[in-house]
Amino acid sequence: MNNFIYENRTKVYFGQGCVKEFLSSLTRDNRNILLACGINSAKRNGIYDEILNILMEAGKNVVDFSGIMPNPTYRKVLEGIHLAKKHEIDLILGIGGGSVMDCAKAVSLGARCSGAPWENFWERKGIVDFTPIPVGVIPTTAGTGSECNGAAVITNEKTKVKIGYDYAKCNPAFALMDPVYTYSVPEKQMTSGAFDSLSHIMETYFSEPDEQNVSDEIGEALMRSVIRNTLQAVKNPKDYTARSNLMWLSTLSENRLIKLGKRGDFGCHLIEHQLGAYTDCNHGQGMAVLQPVYYRHIYKDGLRKFARFATNVWNIPAEGQSEEELAQEGIQKLADFIREIGLPATLRELGVREKNILKKIAISSHYSMGGYRKLNSEEILEILTECF
Ligand code: NZQ
Ligand code: ZN
Repeated sequence: MNNFIYENRTKVYFGQGCVKEFLSSLTRDNRNILLACGINSAKRNGIYDEILNILMEAGKNVVDFSGIMPNPTYRKVLEGIHLAKKHEIDLILGIGGGSVMDCAKAVSLGARCSGAPWENFWERKGIVDFTPIPVGVIPTTAGTGSECNGAAVITNEKTKVKIGYDYAKCNPAFALMDPVYTYSVPEKQMTSGAFDSLSHIMETYFSEPDEQNVSDEIGEALMRSVIRNTLQAVKNPKDYTARSNLMWLSTLSENRLIKLGKRGDFGCHLIEHQLGAYTDCNHGQGMAVLQPVYYRHIYKDGLRKFARFATNVWNIPAEGQSEEELAQEGIQKLADFIREIGLPATLRELGVREKNILKKIAISSHYSMGGYRKLNSEEILEILTECF
């Protein structure tokens, strides 16, 4: 294993009813709360009112910051920073999916930093030598893991760059995770979130070191669990066991734990983020389209690991099969799973119509330094063209 330092300061309150039980005590010392939420789901399904009532009864000054869109824009972050400064906000409470949680974290950082937030913390990785406004999150989707990390993935709509770095000081102070809050998520968003969790594990697993290490073994168990619970949740969306497992799997996949001692790839994420910057596509669905094709391009560079993936994750018997055959079968199983849970497998299905943007996406994609092979923009373009 490589050396590491581990820190994760988010305190998690997990389970049905946790918001009602803990929110007022967690906000006891706060006065001015910025209530961040998405476009309309939380207001439509009653979650927003439930939370607002708790805060109003406790006499808090609540400032509404709603309308955070999927793939949150830098313009929206600037709007939140303005509100946070104007109302002397001392807690940002994000209710929603990864987009809302990321935007809440971005505002918390941007409202306290000196200088231009985008240039200093997104255009390049900056140093957070100040304390961002504390953030609390109440996730209503499962998948990104944003509730327990310091990343805020933001789209600069002017420069067409979608990016985020994991800043430890931006970890939420607390996360109230009630799986029942995810019941109203449409099936396609549920499966896209589940696939996002799976993709985080795969992006970590398919990177060095590959010799026996605990991160890879945890990763295999998590992958099997995501697959099993997703299939169960597709059959019965109100299966509390499956939905609660998926919610916790989301956290475990992206709270830095399995990254310890690993280089991590995330090359496919870097391509998908640019795909999102140009097309505004759904993140998990974008990953579902790209990841099998990406792996068909790189598997020979990590052949043994892809063969191990086939046997340990997809239960493909190893006897009588070469590593090459196993690796290919494992990737095919992944592609079949994507189809089985109803996710798109091509860019066309994702709604991409113009082939001519693919070159712009390829050229603007950042390269991963941790994958089995560093791709150049020509090969990224090949991958995107194959996905079309
Ligand atoms: O905006 P509203 O009306 O709330 O609707 C949302 C949105 O349309 C809806 N939704 C959320 N909770 C719901 C619900 N609908 C019904 N019932 C509920 N309970 O779902 C739609 C998608 O929401 P979004 O937050 O965009 O989805 P997700 O959680 O998948 O987050 C995706 C964002 O997170 C970033 C992605 O790039 C993308 O911008 N990521 C963040 C990461 C992180 N911070 O670590 C890592 C990931 O790799 C990812 O990049
Ligand atoms: Zn992701």
